[in-house]
Amino acid sequence: MSTAISPTAYNYKVVRQFAIMTVVWGILGMGLGVFIASQLVWPQLNLDLPWTSFGRLRPLHTNLVIFAFGGCALFGTSYYVVQRTCQTRLISDSMAAFTFWGWQAVIVGALITLPMGYTTTKEYAELEWPLAILLAIVWVTYGLVFFGTIVKRKTKHIYVGNWFYGAFIVVTAMLHIVNHISLPVSLFKSYSAYSGATDAMIQWWYGHNAVGFFLTTGFLGMMYYFVPKQAERPIYSYRLSIVHFWALITLYIWAGPHHLHYTALPDWAQSLGMVMSIILLAPSWGGMINGMMTLSGAWHKLRTDPILRFLVVSLAFYGMSTFEGPMMAIKTVNSLSHYTDWTIGHVHAGALGWVAMISIGAVYHMIPRLYGREQMHSVGLINAHFWLATIGTVLYIASMWVNGITQGLMWRAINDDGTLTYSFVEALQASHPGYIVRALGGAFFASGMLLMAYNVFRTVRAANPVQAEEAAKIVVVGAH
Ligand code: HEM
Ligand code: HEM
Repeated sequence: MSTAISPTAYNYKVVRQFAIMTVVWGILGMGLGVFIASQLVWPQLNLDLPWTSFGRLRPLHTNLVIFAFGGCALFGTSYYVVQRTCQTRLISDSMAAFTFWGWQAVIVGALITLPMGYTTTKEYAELEWPLAILLAIVWVTYGLVFFGTIVKRKTKHIYVGNWFYGAFIVVTAMLHIVNHISLPVSLFKSYSAYSGATDAMIQWWYGHNAVGFFLTTGFLGMMYYFVPKQAERPIYSYRLSIVHFWALITLYIWAGPHHLHYTALPDWAQSLGMVMSIILLAPSWGGMINGMMTLSGAWHKLRTDPILRFLVVSLAFYGMSTFEGPMMAIKTVNSLSHYTDWTIGHVHAGALGWVAMISIGAVYHMIPRLYGREQMHSVGLINAHFWLATIGTVLYIASMWVNGITQGLMWRAINDDGTLTYSFVEALQASHPGYIVRALGGAFFASGMLLMAYNVFRTVRAANPVQAEEAAKIVVVGAH
């Protein structure tokens, strides 16, 4: 048996582009998060201009952090993982390049149209129809590149990380296309094909599975590759990962109605959504435990490796938010939490603690390998970033729990004669200190991203791409 080196290396160019843009969009999206958080503390920051008002910048924040920051992290890591685990180059360089430039074009479109007030008004699906169509075309091309690469793989089996990435790609396409079926009446205005309770149900089937498949399943694909790689240990249980996969994708799709408790949605649909959400705890924790236990025998590495710390703490926050979510899906709990800052805290436990932390860990893992360096420019800066991110997340979610429960209790307090004990403004005043702490936590998190940008810049500047390409040449053992 001999070893042959294939003349074609992996396509690292597109991975590098997405990795860099993850950092750039992360800074912009989180910076904007800090700005809107500050608007809730000092309303004067709305500047009395329509395009800088909270109502227009909030959806821009969600689009930038979910689709720009999270999306670039998912594209970049999935292209990296699929090539390395299938030991083959992406099926088409030009299609991959199209997905990069097309995705950036959608984001720039969002940056322009959302502050101008063009919106479908559906949360997380705000982009008007021309951008939604461009997004669909880019996404289908992404699917072709990803699955095409799997088809031409040199390995026998398909690594479990790719199963998760694959499900995320297929389901996101389905959700986006179905929820966006609408009738355009002008270049920037369209009306949904659905109405009333049906529209609400389809929107939250989309909205919840955007969480389930975009913000969870894709990032679990990341987890299944980067945690074992960084810990230099095989995944704890391959069998558990298969059970985890099928249970997660079977259950998530039913849970959307927990966003519509006590609405015009039929009661049985609300109860079904509640029950499915509670059962969802099991696969979510199965996945978390599988990731955590991968560190068996390697826990000592946490002392010296801040990248591994990012990955492991992200799993802890994943476990926390997937415990909190099923609890909030219980109708009686939801009657307290709904409309309050508790939901916002839950969102960011998942978004900062899980999604952002695992992405940051994965980017730190990839950058030196993509640019032919031994390691990142400064491990100390990664460590500082880790603490800023962790403290920032804790400040954010703790302040929102306090605010959420305070608001829920104040809104429902009733005097003996049936009148409300507190006016809305009193609850708002009680929330003010929490908003200050949240803005501070957000500023911690976002400043960590600035350290990351500097560290990445220094690593890239001293890059040796030739060596990276050489190292990436595909080694086919036993070829001839
Ligand atoms: C520095 C970090 C961040 C700060 C300061 C921040 C701040 C905010 C603020 C102030 C809101 C509006 C809350 C309200 O309406 O009362 C918000 C909403 C939201 N943010 Fe962030 N954010 C940050 C990072 C992120 C990240 C990284 C993600 C996702 C990966 C994210 C996802 C969301 C989502 C989904 C919502 C809408 C929540 C809902 O409608 O229930 N945020 N954020
Ligand atoms: C087992 C897992 C989970 C369940 C059952 C769950 C359940 C829930 C529930 C009941 C709500 C409140 C709905 C409302 O009152 O309006 C909610 C909101 C939300 N959750 Fe989760 N959650 C889970 C995990 C996660 C994770 C891991 C993330 C983020 C990565 C996340 C992101 C969100 C977002 C963005 C919202 C706000 C949606 C909106 O109103 O705009 N969830 N979730």
